[in-house]
Amino acid sequence: MRPTFPTAPRRERHDLVNLRDNENPFGGPHRHYPDNGNDDLVAAYIRALDVVEPMPDGPRWRWGPESVLITRGAADGLDLVFRTFFEPASDAVALTPPSFALFDELATVYRVARVPVPLRGERLDRLDVGRLASLPVKGVILCDPGNPTGTCLDRRDVLALLDAFDGLVVIDEAYVECSGRVSYRHLIPEHPNLVVVRSMSKALGLAALRLGAVLAHPDLLTALRKTRLPYALPGPVTARAVAELTRPASLRGRIEAFTGERDRLAAGLAGCPGVGRVFAEAGFVTVEGEHTLADELWRAGFDTLPEPMGWPGHVRVSVGRPVDNSRLVAALKGVPAREPATGMRKPTFRMARGAVAAIRGRGLQT
Ligand SMILES: Cc1ncc(COP(=O)(O)O)c(C=O)c1O
Repeated sequence: MRPTFPTAPRRERHDLVNLRDNENPFGGPHRHYPDNGNDDLVAAYIRALDVVEPMPDGPRWRWGPESVLITRGAADGLDLVFRTFFEPASDAVALTPPSFALFDELATVYRVARVPVPLRGERLDRLDVGRLASLPVKGVILCDPGNPTGTCLDRRDVLALLDAFDGLVVIDEAYVECSGRVSYRHLIPEHPNLVVVRSMSKALGLAALRLGAVLAHPDLLTALRKTRLPYALPGPVTARAVAELTRPASLRGRIEAFTGERDRLAAGLAGCPGVGRVFAEAGFVTVEGEHTLADELWRAGFDTLPEPMGWPGHVRVSVGRPVDNSRLVAALKGVPAREPATGMRKPTFRMARGAVAAIRGRGLQT
């Protein structure tokens, strides 16, 4: 689509009286528009990235603000990518089902033709690179770690695709901090067609703030900035996020608590009747199991997602509070719940569950 909104920062002369923005001078503490560039938040996020995920070996690229666009969640980042780069009723996108339903839904909204190239392999962690690279599509959208698969893509396939395909390669890394592996963001300098979409709702535990990021070559981000609405992020939200992101120990502790509890839930589910293989490399646990498994959990008081994103024979279970996870496993085993180990951190997931419920209310599968 043709970019529309101006992106150049306003010339700021602090000795001038601002009579340009039509704000109400009697409006109280929230009367001014927020900083459109979100400079403080971008700087805090760049620093936070280095503490919440493992770093690659060898020389590192110095991240600058020109490669980071903060968005209203990963969902907003994906929406911007579609709105900016895909021409309605003309372009096509390749998707790799089973994958995050929003990709499909955005393609529908923006009238972009979909070409499904299903994931392969026993763990659905392999790409059909040959087919993807040969398609006449504008771009490919991958989800890694995968929702709903709960596995990470084989890195060799992603690298091979980047080498063989010169269209847009978008990787939704909403759960990457849960996977313990290096983000693909470090490949952006070599692959200017790579766009990495991130979320602060998952491992960082900030779902209520509705924040995420698009990491990409500055030229691509300039185009995204032009299609984004002005003053997109509320001032109180960015201030809260800066406060959260500048506490590295708390962020790390949060991620460790989350992934530790995910692993405990996965281990518990692995021994349960009606549960087959268990996949837990993202921020949830997906198990092989029939719809009846979700029905049984429903009767026991747990709302899980059967056939996630239309994937039959599987049930996706979010990581709940330790006490709830223990009860869930006990309910499936038909035994009384055992208290989780002492010393377990206090649960921090309430906000995330609220935001997911809000998205479900809009009829989207999350
Ligand atoms: C794979 C994936 N991408 C993106 C999102 C949206 O995340 P956000 O809350 O940052 O908009 C979700 C939410 O469930 C997700 O599972």
